[in-house]
Amino acid sequence: MTTDSTPATGSLAEVLSALPEVAAWQLVPGATGDTLLVTGPATAEGDVGGAGPVSAAHAAASGDAAISGTDLAELPALMRLLDETALLTIARILDRTRLFRGPEPRTAADVVGALGVVPRHAWIVRRWLGTLVEEGRLVRDPDTGGGYRELAAPDRAQYARARRTLDAARRGMGYPESMTRFFLAAADRLPLLLQDRTSLQGVLFPEGDTGTAEGNYRDSAPSRWANHAAADLIAQEAHRRGKGGQPLRVLEVGAGVGGTTEAVLDALRDTGDAPVDYLFTDVSHFFLQAARARFGAQPGLSQALFDINADPVAQGFTPGTLDVILAANVLHNARHAGRALAALRELLTPDGLLVLVESCKEHYQALTSMYLLMSPQPDEEGWFTDLRAGQDRVFLTEEEWAQQLDGAGFRTLPVLPPAGHPLAALGQHVIAGRPRPDHGRPDPARVARALARLPGAARPTRVHAVDRVLPTTASGATS
Ligand SMILES: C[S@@+](CC[C@H](N)C(=O)[O-])C[C@H]1O[C@@H](n2cnc3c(N)ncnc32)[C@H](O)[C@@H]1O
Repeated sequence: MTTDSTPATGSLAEVLSALPEVAAWQLVPGATGDTLLVTGPATAEGDVGGAGPVSAAHAAASGDAAISGTDLAELPALMRLLDETALLTIARILDRTRLFRGPEPRTAADVVGALGVVPRHAWIVRRWLGTLVEEGRLVRDPDTGGGYRELAAPDRAQYARARRTLDAARRGMGYPESMTRFFLAAADRLPLLLQDRTSLQGVLFPEGDTGTAEGNYRDSAPSRWANHAAADLIAQEAHRRGKGGQPLRVLEVGAGVGGTTEAVLDALRDTGDAPVDYLFTDVSHFFLQAARARFGAQPGLSQALFDINADPVAQGFTPGTLDVILAANVLHNARHAGRALAALRELLTPDGLLVLVESCKEHYQALTSMYLLMSPQPDEEGWFTDLRAGQDRVFLTEEEWAQQLDGAGFRTLPVLPPAGHPLAALGQHVIAGRPRPDHGRPDPARVARALARLPGAARPTRVHAVDRVLPTTASGATS
């Protein structure tokens, strides 16, 4: 039986239902073709075996040591100050449209029209309106449903005061000065940014300078903690494997300005256990060039392009050949988190280690800055096709990541920082997992061979085996 009714998927369903090893499947659309995720009847079990442990407590201690001297008790309040300024920025921009000066309710489409927002950024405006309602700065009109009214916007003096407090917050959070400059520069350009008349990349990397991004992804207290905890997990893994003298094969995806890379390379050097074969990758050439300049020619370190949304094998990678995969603040860019995780899982050795750093909480600062980098491309059809589909959101919660890892076939390690840690509430988390053993998971190559008789248009371009098919997108059960 299948829950999908399109003709192409119907014939796909027929082939799949003839394969006893396929119990359920999911078709994930993508820019470079569809991906089929298949699960077997027995894959939900088998949560045993795998590799030896790495200690989460040891990693947390490394995180703590990296931020010793920072007053953690102050951090939530400082974060709130940054968020408050973002809210006031949004309210002020909306006020300037004059749409909310009268009693009539206004819709998101009215705001998008008044600000000339390009379609790909319209989701940000919808988030603005929803957030202002949650924060009591706007009223959702109960009669019109989609209308909003009664905007509470700051006057010029209030707004100027909020901008001045930013610097105090910034310093307390351990961000460098460039962070405040970036935040304010983005706020000042928001109408132009939303119209795609200027780009946030230009504000974040002025004349190619990566200092601001380094401040965010390397130097701020939450990043420092997460990077050192992640680095510690990887160093423990090197130590665990180190005795054979084989190089530890590490793939870092979305490595960007290398905020995490530096902590990992330092930690690996400190273990002195084994040589390292570290592949620094990103979807953009810009970061590879910056990495060459920054890290120089270190033994075992190389750079390559890699897109988490495309097939790793088509990008030259061989399944089962990596000991560690690190993805710091990048996996939320996966159009389908489960597909990306399944693909990365196949690249790992059976006892490999996946380490993610992810922001699991929405910070309002992103609404006036980083979100501009996360909108779909102008020519991109659709956007997220996983649990975020149609929801105007980018980040997953830590529970959602745990679910995604579990579905893709990972046994998760305790999420860091642990509950109750002063940094846990800020949302930056280290989430690690190991592949579960292959109990009854279908062989993707065999499934692909069975599908070869379908007409080209009905044939997925890649097949990955997972442990669970999670809701959203076309899916079916074969028994
Ligand atoms: C938030 S930044 C990176 C954080 C990084 N850990 C650092 O220290 O800079 C996200 C990075 O992911 C990269 N990225 C975005 N989409 C990607 C994709 N589809 N595949 C691989 N990398 C991607 C971006 O180019 C950027 O470098």
